[in-house]
Amino acid sequence: MKLLVTGGAGYVGSVCAARLIEAGHDVVVVDDLSTGHVDAVPDGCRFVEGDIAEIADTLLPEGFDGVLHFAAKSLVAESMREPAKYWYGNVVTSLRLLEAIRRHSVPRLVFSSTAATYGEPETVPVLETAATRPTNTYGATKLAIDNAMTSYAAAHGLAAVSLRYFNVAGAHGRFGERHTTETHLIPIVLQVALGQRDSVAIYGEDYPTGDGSCVRDYIHVTDLADAHLLALDHAEPGEHQIYNLGNGTGFSVKQVIETCRQVTGHEIPVTMAARRPGDPAVLVASSDKARTEFKWEPAKADLTEIVRDAWTFTKARAGA
Ligand SMILES: NC(=O)c1ccc[n+]([C@@H]2O[C@H](COP(=O)([O-])OP(=O)(O)OC[C@H]3O[C@@H](n4cnc5c(N)ncnc54)[C@H](O)[C@@H]3O)[C@@H](O)[C@H]2O)c1
Repeated sequence: MKLLVTGGAGYVGSVCAARLIEAGHDVVVVDDLSTGHVDAVPDGCRFVEGDIAEIADTLLPEGFDGVLHFAAKSLVAESMREPAKYWYGNVVTSLRLLEAIRRHSVPRLVFSSTAATYGEPETVPVLETAATRPTNTYGATKLAIDNAMTSYAAAHGLAAVSLRYFNVAGAHGRFGERHTTETHLIPIVLQVALGQRDSVAIYGEDYPTGDGSCVRDYIHVTDLADAHLLALDHAEPGEHQIYNLGNGTGFSVKQVIETCRQVTGHEIPVTMAARRPGDPAVLVASSDKARTEFKWEPAKADLTEIVRDAWTFTKARAGA
């Protein structure tokens, strides 16, 4: 298929673009490099630098079989301080992309949605039928895009799939996590192991979990990429399908830090901090729907393997 990948110079987009190329697809990457890196764009694709909101109408008339839309602003704290950046950068941009998709008759759209659309779920593992009550602006903007996709599928026959990722981690060769503002636990802990930070903060150790720290679900980025390939195959005209993607196993913050200690051989000092508002005790996905309908099975569900791949990538980037 000929596919447009928005945000393909970012973390998840670069890994997915690489996997799509490996699978034989013809890939065009668009990225404005606002948080991405030009050297993260995989070989074997065409790269167009620019804002997808501006460029979609110029590119899509070439004829595409599908769009995979990763481009977004995705920092929760920033979304609370600067909501306009998120309502424009995520919602307005995606609406302009959706309109271009409609005008130029692109049949498929696969979108990077998020667990943040659910807010603080009442039950875990979280099913796709759980209530969507985002507790931050980032999650609210992603939910708005999901809702727009439902309307476009119904009205215009678009084959639309939203993949709601939980915590993405790991790396694929030279493609990995390189956020300038890093908010994700595993890369932060690995920065401590590299000597780039003194310690890692644990926010709360009085949660009703085994060791008192929060429990989260980590999905290896290559397993996530494989789900995108399957989503392209399973997208149905006129339907908007939503799938949660995690590996279904929760790991506590303390377990993640301990695994990072074992993988890196570094002591990784920790500091204790107060709970952060809006942090649920346990956030674990039920990915049963993707497993059943896509026959998707995470190949790298083991936390040690996820951390090892991230560490190999991090050390290589640091020249360590
Ligand atoms: N990383 C995670 O754990 C996670 C979890 C849930 C959902 N997501 C979603 O997955 C997607 C990818 O996340 P990521 O971690 O790779 O982020 P990232 O910041 O590394 O990648 C986003 C890319 O989009 C580009 N971009 C942003 N706005 C653009 C625009 N208007 N036009 C063109 N390019 C633009 C950026 O330059 C960047 O390269 C995002 O939509 C994010 O919300 C990520």
